[in-house]
Amino acid sequence: MAESIWILGATGRTGRAAAGLLQQRGIAPVLVGRNAARLRALAEELGSDFVIANGLDDMVARIRHARPGVVLNTVGPFMVTANPLIDACIAAGSHYVDLGNDMGVVPAVLARDAEATPVGVALVTGAGFGGAASESVVVRLCDGMPPAAKVRTDMVPSIEIEEGTLGEAFAATLLTGMPGVPGGGRYQARRISNGRIRPAGIGSRRQKLTTPDGHEVSSGLMPLGELAAAQRASGAPEAEAASAEAPTGPLRALFPLAEVFLRFGPLRRALIRRLAATRVSTRPRPREYSWAHARVEWADGRVREGWLRLGDASEATVRFAAETSVRLAEGKGTPGAFTPAALFGPQLAEACGGRYFD
Ligand SMILES: NC(=O)c1ccc[n+]([C@@H]2O[C@H](COP(=O)([O-])OP(=O)(O)OC[C@H]3O[C@@H](n4cnc5c(N)ncnc54)[C@H](OP(=O)(O)O)[C@@H]3O)[C@@H](O)[C@H]2O)c1
Repeated sequence: MAESIWILGATGRTGRAAAGLLQQRGIAPVLVGRNAARLRALAEELGSDFVIANGLDDMVARIRHARPGVVLNTVGPFMVTANPLIDACIAAGSHYVDLGNDMGVVPAVLARDAEATPVGVALVTGAGFGGAASESVVVRLCDGMPPAAKVRTDMVPSIEIEEGTLGEAFAATLLTGMPGVPGGGRYQARRISNGRIRPAGIGSRRQKLTTPDGHEVSSGLMPLGELAAAQRASGAPEAEAASAEAPTGPLRALFPLAEVFLRFGPLRRALIRRLAATRVSTRPRPREYSWAHARVEWADGRVREGWLRLGDASEATVRFAAETSVRLAEGKGTPGAFTPAALFGPQLAEACGGRYFD
């Protein structure tokens, strides 16, 4: 029998959609959130149990007490929430999944492999479109190959925006940046050169690509966790991870300024509150498909390049998160710390509706 799945942040965009997807698959997740009225309404709609937890400390205490089978964490910024929740999961023997996709979170979760393995717990980070999509392409391209010399990933998300507010998790993830993360500043991208993490400008090393369905896009470097995943999957000492959502033009110039001004906690927190409350109106997705691309080079001159096609990137995130959680609940994981395709192979993306193109 599958173990219980707790969804933290169940009343948020991803949490709610993941709960709905699990319910369609005949699984009733336990909904965990801080807003009792919204949680109750959702639990009633889905016929699920719920747990009211007021903030991170309360979530940690509840996990330690109830020892769920799997914890799906959708509460960002994951640089703040991942480690305390992982502490609780390791103590409780619960598997852990998150949607983290930055260089602060992904290497930090992977570094906990030696703690997770002896207690039989799987920790999976990067279980969203951002993270799992481009990693899946790299894992597929590197299958059966020796360590590579160079890897670059590009993600091209296409997202339909729902009317509402941007929300605290998203705003805080964006504006908190990556304080104290090695290899560069709080608002800088990263790349790997000679096996070492180095700083890079956000949006730099821009590259033009044509998707297999004919859309011209351009992508630039971001401090994505995909960098760590691609480096691990390929073994390459030179690695870059880029996104078509990386800012261009004058917006890029703001990041060095942010490094100075957003250092002040009170100002940063005020801006996070303001951004979180910003209303966005409905916008259809700009392209029919979201894409992930990777190019891998080997020292002997061999080059492999491939694409993964998915639908709406937010929907893909929900599918990656739900599929990963279900597999862990069914006992299909392995103890240790992983990114999704490292644990479940490139077929995971196909199970989430993805299709590869070479
Ligand atoms: N890797 C990827 O591709 C990917 C894709 C999508 C999202 N993400 C990341 O995943 C996270 C969630 O995204 P989303 O769009 O689902 O955000 P969202 O709609 O704002 O949902 C976040 C949830 O977290 C809860 N929450 C926020 N701060 C909390 C706190 N301090 N204590 C307790 N609960 C808290 C919210 O509670 P309330 O409902 O009470 O506000 C909400 O339920 C974000 O960090 C986002 O950047 C990653």
